[in-house]
Amino acid sequence: MISTSRFIEACWGRPHDKVPVWFMRQAGRYQDGYRKLRQQYSFLEMAHNPDICTEVSCRPVEELGVDAAILFSDIMIPLGPMGVDFEIREHFGPVIAHPVRTGRDLKQLRVLEPEDDLPEVFEAIEKICERLGAIPLIGFAGAPFTLASYLIEGGPSKNYLHTKRLMWEQPEVWRQLMDVLADATVRHLSAQVRHGAQAVQVFDSWIGALPVDDYRKYVMPSMRAVFAKLNALQVPTIYFGTGTASLLHAMKETGPTVLGVDWRTPIRQARSTVGSEVTLQGNLDPMTLVCEWDIVKEHSTAILQDMLGDPAFIFNLGHGVPPEAHPDNLKRLVEWVHQFPGTPASQ
Ligand code: CP3
Repeated sequence: MISTSRFIEACWGRPHDKVPVWFMRQAGRYQDGYRKLRQQYSFLEMAHNPDICTEVSCRPVEELGVDAAILFSDIMIPLGPMGVDFEIREHFGPVIAHPVRTGRDLKQLRVLEPEDDLPEVFEAIEKICERLGAIPLIGFAGAPFTLASYLIEGGPSKNYLHTKRLMWEQPEVWRQLMDVLADATVRHLSAQVRHGAQAVQVFDSWIGALPVDDYRKYVMPSMRAVFAKLNALQVPTIYFGTGTASLLHAMKETGPTVLGVDWRTPIRQARSTVGSEVTLQGNLDPMTLVCEWDIVKEHSTAILQDMLGDPAFIFNLGHGVPPEAHPDNLKRLVEWVHQFPGTPASQ
């Protein structure tokens, strides 16, 4: 299929008309419509209902004019059919009933069979793609480290005490856990691509907890395997994490098409760290979105100027849209980004 999407072209570093833009967590509580639906359904009910999932995934494209949709789901969803009992607590995050701490706990995880285990997700993907037409859908999954951190800690964490302890004290159990989770990530994303996703993003949100030497030793092998398999699908792959200033080069070496940058690293610094071979995605501080438009404009313009003329750039936030964001800021921001050319006028 020949793609004309500016988002897909930028992923491959090819010329395109305007700087593409989408937002992590572009579907969420900052939207009136989303909050209304959430009064009737739990988050998990919404994510498992193909019609609601389609509606919620497509609305940001229709309301904001972003250049891509992202599947409305969660990194935890595939863990359910793998045998993990969890809930998602509002304003807190995922909570796991029986954390994984030993080799025996690990043996209880079963292999993900995406289409059999989560047919509603793939039904939603097909519906979304049909409704979006030429706008691409980004599929996503959690990365092994970030999934492991929830499984081992039992919920969100500040210091990743149990995760690091398992990683260092039981390296063989850790390696097996990384393999099991990497396999699930690849299976889930491959199925999403089979059903119509045109790009995939791997969320390693909490990878910044590791120093680079530990990243290379304990995480990089599984990420290399993930991207080797995903890249064979011939869709762009995006690798995102936060707190990654010292990890960006190693993350790039794992082989994604696009590297997501959080707001702490100046985007020009990220570019000089990783070289020109990889597309960069980011990295407006999400907290600007709760301020007046002038603040959003000032911070976004600095990023756009740093990346002016770089065809391998996708505008996004440095992390997800906060629930307190003003919807108007997001709408204006899309218009503002679209005023910037995707490649130098001379090309
Ligand atoms: O970007 C999108 O619009 C797609 C939807 C999406 C969600 N979760 C929906 C969601 C994506 C890509 C995710 C991934 C995810 N989930 C990550 C990686 C990205 C990131 O933000 O770092 C992580 C770490 C999770 C785990 C998780 N799930 C957290 C930390 C929370 C937030 C808890 C809260 O109430 O603030 C969730 C719940 C969740 N996932 C919500 C949404 C819209 C909020 C649910 C609600 O109460 O309506």
